[in-house]
Amino acid sequence: MTDNARIVASPGREVAGSVRVPGDKSISHRALILGALAEGETLIRGFLSGEDCISTLKALRQLGATIDDSDPDCIRVQGVGLNGLRAPAGPLDLGNSGTGMRLLAGVLAGQAFESELTGDESLRSRPMERVATPLGRMGARIISSGGYPPLHIKGSALKPLYYESPVASAQVKSALLLAGLYADGTTRVEEPGITRDHTERMLQAFGVNVMIGDKAAEVSGPARLQATEIAVPGDFSSAAFALAAGCLSATGPVEITGVGINPTRTGFLEILKLMGAGIAITDVGTAGSEPVATLTVNSAVLKGAEIPPELVPLAIDELPLVFALAACAEGETRVTGAKELRHKESDRIAIMATGLSNLGIEVDERSDGLVVKGGRLRGGTVNSAGDHRVAMAFSVAAMTANDTIEILDTINVATSFPGFVPLMQSLGLQLAEG
Ligand code: S3P
Repeated sequence: MTDNARIVASPGREVAGSVRVPGDKSISHRALILGALAEGETLIRGFLSGEDCISTLKALRQLGATIDDSDPDCIRVQGVGLNGLRAPAGPLDLGNSGTGMRLLAGVLAGQAFESELTGDESLRSRPMERVATPLGRMGARIISSGGYPPLHIKGSALKPLYYESPVASAQVKSALLLAGLYADGTTRVEEPGITRDHTERMLQAFGVNVMIGDKAAEVSGPARLQATEIAVPGDFSSAAFALAAGCLSATGPVEITGVGINPTRTGFLEILKLMGAGIAITDVGTAGSEPVATLTVNSAVLKGAEIPPELVPLAIDELPLVFALAACAEGETRVTGAKELRHKESDRIAIMATGLSNLGIEVDERSDGLVVKGGRLRGGTVNSAGDHRVAMAFSVAAMTANDTIEILDTINVATSFPGFVPLMQSLGLQLAEG
């Protein structure tokens, strides 16, 4: 199903200014979930009021947590304790959010009740056996629809697990660590690549003893979480669009303040450097257990680059934007080792390849990546397939296009970056909604 929302993006490189982007999506989900499982009241400042996190918030309410979001600057979560959740009256609808569904699957695996997780059309086409299989080994009974949502979860007393994950996925790692809170003993997850470690850091902030290793994490249960205050940094994945606009601008600079720069998230900075951009990192500080900084970028002549596969998990959500920037760069950009992109909100390799070639760019689609030959985008219409990051990537790339680009099916931009259009307009991008 497509929606009627669209973004009309016209060329224009007079882009400069200073902005602050909304709160980090990954961290906002985790703050709600851990806050609900803690003892006492957790305060969350800088929370992302995007659709995805709201879905998690509503699901936690259905599970018995009291969450007061009347003051958007400070969300108050009354924790029910690790064993205080109650059976929901009906299915939990996680909307578009893979993070919400997979992390909650980990929590629900350890409950003494049954539950069902479902979502929108995109989420119902995303693979869930990656969490269902290891959670099953811990003792939960999870029935999916051929490996896809809805997930019917019959929780149980869990056994600890030692798991070598076949995919580099923070969602899988986090689901198992959350289930591990309920198991009697040590649960250890090893991964083929480094993935975001927000769950581990935040569990530590809630007083849980977590071991963070090299491509591994360990938690010992049963654990108790003590309520705390969480300051959510600006989302690096949202800041990436403003950074990209700064690179494509005629002048710059573009500055983004208060952005999370957790090193498990910032592979895009390395990629931009490989492509010839210069980024200044200043005002480095911390927001809770996460590093934050101001990022500043100037206009750059971008060049194609071979992207090292080890950067892929560190820039996993920025790869649609990398493809879009590659289309505006001189020479060829090659991304490999990224087959996970086929399992995101859309098949991001296929959707970006189709969109770019519709706009006159030569691409070579591979099973695990994309080769993009830089050139000049022409005007036209692209379908974002309801994928927020695809829609935003084309909105930025249009800065250097020959003519206006109309981007269809853009309602889901609000899942991660509410206010994307006005914020980018404030920097000078020629965007219109509707
Ligand atoms: C996320 C992990 C990543 C990322 C997603 C958010 C998280 O997914 O793509 O947008 O918050 O843990 P995978 O863990 O499946 O790679």
